[in-house]
Amino acid sequence: MFIQQNISLKHRNTFGIDAYAKEFVEISKVEELVVLVGSFNLTERKFLVIGGGSNILITKDFDGMVIKNTIKGIEKIKEDTDFVWVKSMAGEVWHEFVLYCIGNGYAGLENLSLIPGYVGAAPMQNIGAYGAEIKDTFDALEALEIESGEIISFTNEQCKFGYRESIFKNEAKGKYIIVSVTFKLSKNPKLNISYGAIQQMLEKNGVSNPSIKDVSDAVIAIRKSKLPDPLILGNAGSFFKNPEISEAQFLKLKSQFPQIVGYPVASGNIKLAAGWLIEQCGWKGKQVGNTGAHKDQALVLVNYGGATGNEIWSLAMDIQKSVQEKFGVTINPEVNIV
Ligand code: EPU
Repeated sequence: MFIQQNISLKHRNTFGIDAYAKEFVEISKVEELVVLVGSFNLTERKFLVIGGGSNILITKDFDGMVIKNTIKGIEKIKEDTDFVWVKSMAGEVWHEFVLYCIGNGYAGLENLSLIPGYVGAAPMQNIGAYGAEIKDTFDALEALEIESGEIISFTNEQCKFGYRESIFKNEAKGKYIIVSVTFKLSKNPKLNISYGAIQQMLEKNGVSNPSIKDVSDAVIAIRKSKLPDPLILGNAGSFFKNPEISEAQFLKLKSQFPQIVGYPVASGNIKLAAGWLIEQCGWKGKQVGNTGAHKDQALVLVNYGGATGNEIWSLAMDIQKSVQEKFGVTINPEVNIV
């Protein structure tokens, strides 16, 4: 464990923001994490845990300790005739973990292929795509409690998962460092290919009886076709969450904007496509200084090179304001603002 001073975070966040951390440490073993938490009194200090840095917008230099969790390891911890329980340490790259599961015939994560980031960050915001969320296959996680220095287990229920939400973004924020995540995966794939784009891609690939690998390949192809690669164009995926409104408000909006994109959710509300709202406000493909809303997916804000976190934040606020003015709907960031 080596604590470095004044380190650029440019290559440690997928927006590519060149902000500095006062202190930076990379942790590759659970024991190191226990020592760090025990000896640095993190309850009193400002700290930020990062994995792949793929869901943060850093708006200023970080006047505290940035802890990059790179603890690795994947293990099958138990199985029965139908399921297998696979535990991944938090510092594994998410997509590599997904590929490991697919390679071994463990089903359930294939729709979540190619999502950027590390395994430890996945439960924080209950990552989701193409009709699946990790809460569907999540069994438990282990996290280091900062105050006691102990490793605590959380069940699926205890994580209070919601749409891009968990207890770790709310009441447990800043109190735990996720160490490992265990998934309950199926030996008998029950594919989830209801999402139109997946069906179209499978058809295009000439696949009629898809395997989990075929579904994963289709998801990878869809993502590559419309989401920019952070290595080429800085971004953090969807910047805003899709907002929920009441059915009454939706019907009112629909009479004014017949093309509006929305679908019912369990609560009885309607979830609107934020990308559509943003596009209708004229932002899609628009460049403002070094920032902009992506040309193929308006929900993804991008850094064309050299943008500061504040410039991206200012663009985000302008977008939020124009959506509010045109539709009377508030869109809130999905990305964590630091
Ligand atoms: N749309 C537009 N214009 C745009 C973008 C989208 O009209 O510029 C419309 C599309 O035509 C479509 C609808 O909006 O009818 C939904 O678009 P899409 O399928 O691309 O999904 P999304 O709702 O924009 C969500 C997730 C993504 C995930 C996709 C696929 C959120 C905030 N985002 O995006 O997750 O990959 O669904 O399941 O829920 C992420 O969280 O970073 C992320 C990329």
